[in-house]
Amino acid sequence: MKKIIAANWKNNGSTKFVKDYLNFFLKNKNSNNEIIIFPPDLYINQVNSYKNKKSFSIGGQRINTDGGDTHTSGTTSKMFIDNGCDYILVGHSEIRSLIDQVTFGAAKDLYGSSGLQTIFCVGEDEDTKNSGNTSNVLESQLEDLCNKENYPTDHLLDQKVDNIKQCTNTSLEKAIIAYEPVWAIGSGNTPNIKDISCIHRFIKTYVSENHPFAKEKDIMVLYGGSVNLKNAKDILSAPYVDGVLIGGASLDVKEFTKICNLKI
Ligand code: PGA
Repeated sequence: MKKIIAANWKNNGSTKFVKDYLNFFLKNKNSNNEIIIFPPDLYINQVNSYKNKKSFSIGGQRINTDGGDTHTSGTTSKMFIDNGCDYILVGHSEIRSLIDQVTFGAAKDLYGSSGLQTIFCVGEDEDTKNSGNTSNVLESQLEDLCNKENYPTDHLLDQKVDNIKQCTNTSLEKAIIAYEPVWAIGSGNTPNIKDISCIHRFIKTYVSENHPFAKEKDIMVLYGGSVNLKNAKDILSAPYVDGVLIGGASLDVKEFTKICNLKI
């Protein structure tokens, strides 16, 4: 079955890195999986120049919904779309935890992501896990994803859009959630496979019962947090796992390409 394999480069990259990475990747990729690369914003355009039909998709790591067109800095959904992006990460724990981001809200970012398919990140921290409160925390994070108010539907209908893609607000048709336990990100630790399946099932049930637009068959849950070549096959083969979001290990193009080429 087709899986999503996503590379979150975070703040890594250079023009040389992009060139070497994509030359190797396109030569050695042998996979029907949906591959998504999330480069830093400044390299999206360069990554896009390597994208031929169906080879891979591109996503933005963070949307700027701070102040719209009149705000200094940041990247808006229109700019991501204009540069070849189909996806946007929303609610990554590294963004949720930024203390100076007083205006940050996953709900606000969902609203600002029109025209892009969101990958909505949720996950508990270590204290939450140890105190047995994981499902409560996940539910409260998923509430934003499932609240109709957080999508700009009326706004979209009223708006005059020149790019047809902006009319098909794909983030309304599908719900893609990345389950990323905060304690697993960059730590080398992962939950056991049974726990991953169990939590993914919980997320799917909650979202299918509460999401205002997505149908059950269009709800996908990815796992993220210390995925690498050693554990990827087991994680990807586990029940209720529709894909993986990979940080550190995605920077090694050989390792990432091997993960993409896994036959599940
Ligand atoms: P990691 O990062 O694979 O390095 O743990 C995952 C992520 O933060 O998306």
